[in-house]
Amino acid sequence: MKAIIGTDPEEAAYHLQRGGLVAIPTETVYGLAANALDPSAVVKIFEAKHRPGFDPLIVHIDRFEQIAELATQFPAEAMKLTEYYWPGPLTIILPKRPIVPDLVTSGLQTVGIRMPAHPMTQELLSLLRFPLAAPSANPFGYVSPTTAEHVADQLGDKVDYILDGGPCQVGVESTIISFADSPPKVLRLGGLELSQIRKLIKEFEVSQHSSDNPVAPGMLSAHYSPKKKVIIGNLPKLVKTYSDENICYLSFQDEYDFPGQVLSRKGDLQEAAHNLFAALRKLDEEKCEIILAELVPERGLGRAINDRIRRAAKGSINR
Ligand code: TXA
Ligand code: MG
Repeated sequence: MKAIIGTDPEEAAYHLQRGGLVAIPTETVYGLAANALDPSAVVKIFEAKHRPGFDPLIVHIDRFEQIAELATQFPAEAMKLTEYYWPGPLTIILPKRPIVPDLVTSGLQTVGIRMPAHPMTQELLSLLRFPLAAPSANPFGYVSPTTAEHVADQLGDKVDYILDGGPCQVGVESTIISFADSPPKVLRLGGLELSQIRKLIKEFEVSQHSSDNPVAPGMLSAHYSPKKKVIIGNLPKLVKTYSDENICYLSFQDEYDFPGQVLSRKGDLQEAAHNLFAALRKLDEEKCEIILAELVPERGLGRAINDRIRRAAKGSINR
């Protein structure tokens, strides 16, 4: 069975109400959604993705009142952040209520909650009486999807419907901040920049990413990985060193005279984030064996982009 791709939130709602799986567009990446309050629906997400049970899912909502239904506490600082940046690329971790199935949180006593900004998914959520659990809609460990076609290519036969909202605007996943920790702790760099958090919250920590021993499940160092070997370094030097090999490249701004992908010719980090995952997928389809990559400037969104590139390289080495 090949999933139907369409633009009808009502059809998406129909499948979700029957315990089905629907791929949904968000401003960050596409999600693989199911009724968050129904374990028999949620289990299908884990099966479709081959996702290990120790990696918890984010619960997507469209109204602030839902926070009190899912979480026992909503600290003032979390309130401030969400009032300012929701809907948007921000996930908050709060102590959970029993209504949230253990399967969603992998047995943790906390739940990740996010209000996505894509209008089509907001419309879908408004049609439903339950929130949606949704991880990124890719097989576990692979690059996240930023178009409906990316989802169809890899999970097309495993979902009931793909809601096509066009290419994702932001292109990297949400920033995750835990309010179960004191001070609050950023667990994943993402579409909301740390400087934007700093404007509203004085004291918070940023966890060490790319950990092999993740504090939060799922913060695995080898993730977002293409199938090919990825080598990071000074690109002109790498090109010389590997000139006899079957190479392609991933650059920030510069074009080379062999197959590759440029993230943003004008050097714009937002554009680079928007293009990143599609670029990695295209490189995976090239006839080359090694992807030579450079990091982007380590500021603003560049930190989230570099985190993804580093993890892509790490995954390819372990393979
Ligand atoms: O932008 C996004 O966040 C996308 C879209 C679809 O919303 N979703 C996404 O989901 O990236 P996923 O499952 O690929 O990544 C969610 C991460 C996982 O690494 C998981 O470990 C972490 O969030 N997470 C979820 N709930 C958590 C919790 N209670 N405590 C700690 N980490 C949690
Ligand atoms: Mg993911």
